Amino acid sequence: MRSDEIEDTPYVEGTLTKLQIFELYARAWLPVFTSKPNPFWKKLHLFDFFAGKGQDCDGTPGSPLRLLTEVKAKAGDICAKALKVTVTVCDDKHSKIEALTKLVHENSLAPRWLGFDPREGDFPENFTHYLPILNDPETACLVLLDQYGFKHVGADVFQTLAACPRTDILFFISTQYLHRFKAHPSIRKYMELEAIGDYYHAHRAVLDWYRSQVPKGQTYYLAAFSFKKGRNLYCVIFGSGHPKGMEQFLQVAWKMDPTSGEADYDLNRENFSELAPYLEFDMFQPKKKQVFEAALEKGIRDGELRSESDLYLFCLENGMLPSHASPVIKKLKAKGFIACDFTSPNRSSLKSPRPFLIRPKN
Ligand SMILES: C[S@@+](CC[C@H](N)C(=O)[O-])C[C@H]1O[C@@H](n2cnc3c(N)ncnc32)[C@H](O)[C@@H]1O
Repeated sequence: MRSDEIEDTPYVEGTLTKLQIFELYARAWLPVFTSKPNPFWKKLHLFDFFAGKGQDCDGTPGSPLRLLTEVKAKAGDICAKALKVTVTVCDDKHSKIEALTKLVHENSLAPRWLGFDPREGDFPENFTHYLPILNDPETACLVLLDQYGFKHVGADVFQTLAACPRTDILFFISTQYLHRFKAHPSIRKYMELEAIGDYYHAHRAVLDWYRSQVPKGQTYYLAAFSFKKGRNLYCVIFGSGHPKGMEQFLQVAWKMDPTSGEADYDLNRENFSELAPYLEFDMFQPKKKQVFEAALEKGIRDGELRSESDLYLFCLENGMLPSHASPVIKKLKAKGFIACDFTSPNRSSLKSPRPFLIRPKN
């Protein structure tokens, strides 16, 4: 009989993309707290709420093993600074939690200094159980929600997580399912998606829906990375209340997709690489970067972006890295339209922006 469990067959390419995003983000997130000489956050808690049994049928590590491996790589700092680190792994299947626990011990991934916390049960109950930790301002949390489908991260769960003070989230969404059945009552119960548009860009509509769920006045950063599994599309959505988290996620995303930082496929169906030697004009300046640069230049020229911090936040809001602002800043400096000592805006500008002068047009 065919099994529908993700680990019973080798992880497909899209699954590996997703796992790599989880892994790379954990790798970027941990040092924020472990590498400081005297860390403010002494308690770190990583959650994998849909952990599975730890590996696929070929022994390729799944999300919980990857998280634990990343934590173990920071053993020196964690022990030297006496940080309290806990990794919680949950699943509703007893057999999976049992298999995962065995695997973790066999691979020496639960050393004595680490709190390894396996828990069996249904997600809503687990979520309620751990909410006090997620809400604790003295604990830095990283949450993976690698659900099947989409329904466990509806408006309530999302808003609850977005309100947690020091919690970054990464969750899986079956974009193609939402795209196909958006009008179905079983979906509208969770998510009222209106125009979802082009299938290839459906993750943007889903991301916009989550943006619309952030309470007015709350600063919250969101980004999505879309990937294919066969012909189907899925995405990982990232959320954080902190610009540093967003910048780190975008670094992961741009590493995975140097063209547009948001998908493992050609978003605009414009792969002209075979024609490259014959094309006289530059087809390879990716559209997303071009559009961003035009919008940034317009924002500066129209006087809407007036400071280094405006520029920095404009980059993040558009899913771009601060370095992506460089061509425009350099160009406008060369034309004498702006004066500043930097070529890309920095996060430190949120506290102390460097001078940025727009010269009035003559
Ligand atoms: C996509 S798989 C997770 C795969 C895993 N992260 C990995 O890397 O292999 C989703 C997991 O969620 C579990 N699950 C399904 N419904 C659940 C629920 N209501 N509460 C908790 N776990 C659930 C499944 O048993 C399955 O292991």
